[in-house]
Amino acid sequence: MTENLIRLTYVSTFQPDITDTNIDDLVAKAASFNQAQGITGVLAIDKDRVCQILEGPKDHVERLFRSIQSDRRHHTVTEIDTRPIDTKSFEAWGMVRRDMIDIVIHALA
Ligand SMILES: Cc1cc2nc3c(=O)[nH]c(=O)nc-3n(C[C@H](O)[C@H](O)[C@H](O)COP(=O)(O)O)c2cc1C
Repeated sequence: MTENLIRLTYVSTFQPDITDTNIDDLVAKAASFNQAQGITGVLAIDKDRVCQILEGPKDHVERLFRSIQSDRRHHTVTEIDTRPIDTKSFEAWGMVRRDMIDIVIHALA
């Protein structure tokens, strides 16, 4: 049976009181939850700006995104692209924290 996979990309802005430790905690929790849900992707951070790519089964990704949208640690959550996919592009990355430039390099590779 083929999985109903999607890739969802959004941008947002961290609240000013967020710290590096908060972000590391968030990423560690996200990594284990996502792995259990078959969700991979990347969380790219540039100062207070966030760009996250989530890929995995449609219902899992949509449910997680609803939770992310209501998370008060960031604001102005703006979905910029959602599309069906045949294969995951970020499978090998798990859910890791990266600099913004890494996404650009990966996209152009
Ligand atoms: C920028 C940002 C990215 C997040 N990414 C994820 C993620 O990839 N996976 C995850 O489980 N939680 C992620 N979270 C945390 C979720 O918003 C939420 O706290 C988590 O799903 C637990 O939700 P619950 O408290 O409703 O159970 C992220 C939060 C923020 C602010």
